[in-house]
Amino acid sequence: MAQLKVLISGAGIAGNALAFWLLKLGHSVTVVERFPALRTSGLQVDLRGYGIQVLKLMGLEQAFRSKSAPEQGLQVVDKSGRRWAYFPANKSGKGLQSFTTDWEIMRGDLCQLLHDATGNRAKYMFDTSIASFSQTEKAVHVQFADGTNDQFDLLVGADGLGSRTRKMMIHNDDPGAVDGFTPLGKSYAAYFTIPRPIRNGEGYVATFYTATKTRFIMTRRHSPQRIQVYLMCNSESEKLQKAHRQDVKVEKEVFSEIFQDAGWQAKEILTALQTSDDFYCERMALVKMDSWSRGRVALVGDAAYCPSANTGMGTTSAFVGAYILAGEIGRHCGTSGHDHSAARDNITAALEEYDRKLRPFMDQVTKGIDGDSALYKFMPTGPIGITMLNAFMGLMALLRLNVLGEWVLKEDVKDWTLPKYKELLGDQVDN
Ligand SMILES: Cc1cc2nc3c(=O)[nH]c(=O)nc-3n(C[C@H](O)[C@H](O)[C@H](O)COP(=O)(O)OP(=O)(O)OC[C@H]3O[C@@H](n4cnc5c(N)ncnc54)[C@H](O)[C@@H]3O)c2cc1C
Ligand SMILES: *[C@@H]1O[C@H](CO)[C@@H](O)[C@H](O)[C@H]1NC(C)=O
Ligand SMILES: *[C@@H]1O[C@H](CO)[C@@H](O)[C@H](O)[C@H]1NC(C)=O
Repeated sequence: MAQLKVLISGAGIAGNALAFWLLKLGHSVTVVERFPALRTSGLQVDLRGYGIQVLKLMGLEQAFRSKSAPEQGLQVVDKSGRRWAYFPANKSGKGLQSFTTDWEIMRGDLCQLLHDATGNRAKYMFDTSIASFSQTEKAVHVQFADGTNDQFDLLVGADGLGSRTRKMMIHNDDPGAVDGFTPLGKSYAAYFTIPRPIRNGEGYVATFYTATKTRFIMTRRHSPQRIQVYLMCNSESEKLQKAHRQDVKVEKEVFSEIFQDAGWQAKEILTALQTSDDFYCERMALVKMDSWSRGRVALVGDAAYCPSANTGMGTTSAFVGAYILAGEIGRHCGTSGHDHSAARDNITAALEEYDRKLRPFMDQVTKGIDGDSALYKFMPTGPIGITMLNAFMGLMALLRLNVLGEWVLKEDVKDWTLPKYKELLGDQVDN
């Protein structure tokens, strides 16, 4: 059996999904995760379009449903809390989904269920990471931070937006090359949860509030005890740029400063922010690369093509990408019965084909999103503009127009279709 020895860096969504498929092909899979355990933090994520189809092909629909988040829809409110618009989830399974999908889940639950689906058949190395690697024509030699080393037929970086594998891959090749991390303007987002017991008759709704000066607050309820808070701003704050990724305490301070006069529930939220223990702040960004692999090293998920949270397509892209990467490996390197060295020589061909198949999908997802953050350019910053925006959203909701799903989020990938791999799916291909 031409079993490939594969190393995946990152046990997140993309890493676990890829491990699932490669195990199905019968390959030997090691996953290295920097965190001491499966990293199950993060707020609510969803699946759209082909992401749902891949989940079903994995046979995980039931597992997903049993853990899904109960959000019913999104309301738009003004500073007095008055509702201007309500966009319910469209559970018909037809057309583009609304902001709230039929496939909502907490990131940690999704990560855990994917991990469970690998059934302990992969070797997980927690609490360490790749220190460096080099490749020859026949193998990738990896040095781990814990001092051990090993060699693999294939290395895949699934280590997220700030991927170290990506940086090493690019710089091994050309020390002067620039990383594909592309910030979207100066937008930042902070995520955390706060306690807020559900009131009698209150539903599970997301609430979106636009404050002046390009500041946004969204809350989402996922549990009877707690809600999630999303603070988004387009900030010139130098302090924030400096504080980012250095110190959570300073990040919290800067967000408190920026949002203190934002109105609506800002005061209450900022008080709860002080004691939150799951605060997480990120600079909104895309990852753009001309090629997602070099030789026997490839990238998958956010590490390769993070489409930014604005598109609503990060998790879906990770699902679709992991499936296609595994599918091309199955197709080019065989599942069993082939001569080992020939299968290994086919890895580069598989990686190139993965890029060729997936790229038109990602091009659609990120179309119109660039370093200037197209979305923010259209957002009003003053009170009159905000009232007009709220009224416009109200009209759209009244007319039942799916304005967020159609115009803002990027679920629609036009005529791109999901490839079917008999190596992964067996008999499922025919139906
Ligand atoms: C802690 C966290 C919270 C998130 N919260 C949200 C959210 O609230 N909403 C949302 O839409 N998206 C969130 N995301 C991003 C979302 O998971 C991704 O956009 C999407 O699901 C694609 O997943 P991914 O597997 O490519 O990347 P990720 O889910 O980011 O997974 C990357 C994994 O790689 C690990 N890793 C990082 N660096 C290294 C390294 N050097 N060596 C080994 N392992 C490494 C990380 O610990 C993580 O487990 C979050 C991601 C993380 C890591
Ligand atoms: C859901 O979407 C479909 C397809 O776009 C549409 O026909 C249907 O009316 C929508 N349902 C609701 C409740 O908006
Ligand atoms: C390598 O790829 C070629 C072309 O896709 C295919 O004909 C050949 O069978 C593959 N070799 C193995 C060992 O899978």
